[in-house]
Amino acid sequence: MGKNNIYTTFDKIKDRHAKEIYLKQRGKVIWFTGLSGSGKTTLASQLEKRLFELNYFCQILDGDNVRSGINKNLRFTEEDRMENIRRIAEVSKLFMNCGIILICAFISPTNEMRDLARDIIGDDDFLEVFVNTPLNVCEQRDPKGLYKKARKGEIKNFTGISSPFEVPDQAFIEVDNTNPDIDASVREMLKQIIPEIRFD
Ligand code: PPS
Ligand code: MG
Repeated sequence: MGKNNIYTTFDKIKDRHAKEIYLKQRGKVIWFTGLSGSGKTTLASQLEKRLFELNYFCQILDGDNVRSGINKNLRFTEEDRMENIRRIAEVSKLFMNCGIILICAFISPTNEMRDLARDIIGDDDFLEVFVNTPLNVCEQRDPKGLYKKARKGEIKNFTGISSPFEVPDQAFIEVDNTNPDIDASVREMLKQIIPEIRFD
């Protein structure tokens, strides 16, 4: 098999702009940040559902799936989290350069980590969404029982308990998810996101 056969027809269109014309959407990265249990995964998947209904082509990357696959060798030290975010940002950029809309949901707890992702992806294409749910609310929800374990010292470096979470200072969108109304939050997000991804 010739070397060129590994490329798809779409890959042969080298120009990102041409791909975006074809897909009728702009490749962007919608990057959710927030504490564990803040609602990142729920909001990201509901957003993807609505965008799909509106004929946008998206890919979700989430801590829960990426860390069991491509990043399964990484733990939760600061160094490993940086590497987690670096790889995710690089992968996101590859998708994005094909005109695809990425929906990334990672704690990405520090400004340094979010800046790294922003630098790799490019400021214009990085839409940061801060899922602002106070620590005490996340801890009360504790959907996976992780806060309980972290308080007992059974999990080390747990974000918000024994590892820092820095509130982002340049989020594109902030969602107050203390008393979740997912449909309303998704509608609000769409208002701000659609002008960024629509191709006209
Ligand atoms: S990070 O900080 O961005 O690298 O984290 P991320 O890749 O998003 O992974 C977060 C999910 O891993 C689970 N988990 C932990 N979170 C925080 N701290 C520690 N120590 C930890 N150990 C396991 C947890 O289920 C996170 O999922 P979410 O969806 O955020 O609750
Ligand atoms: Mg999650």
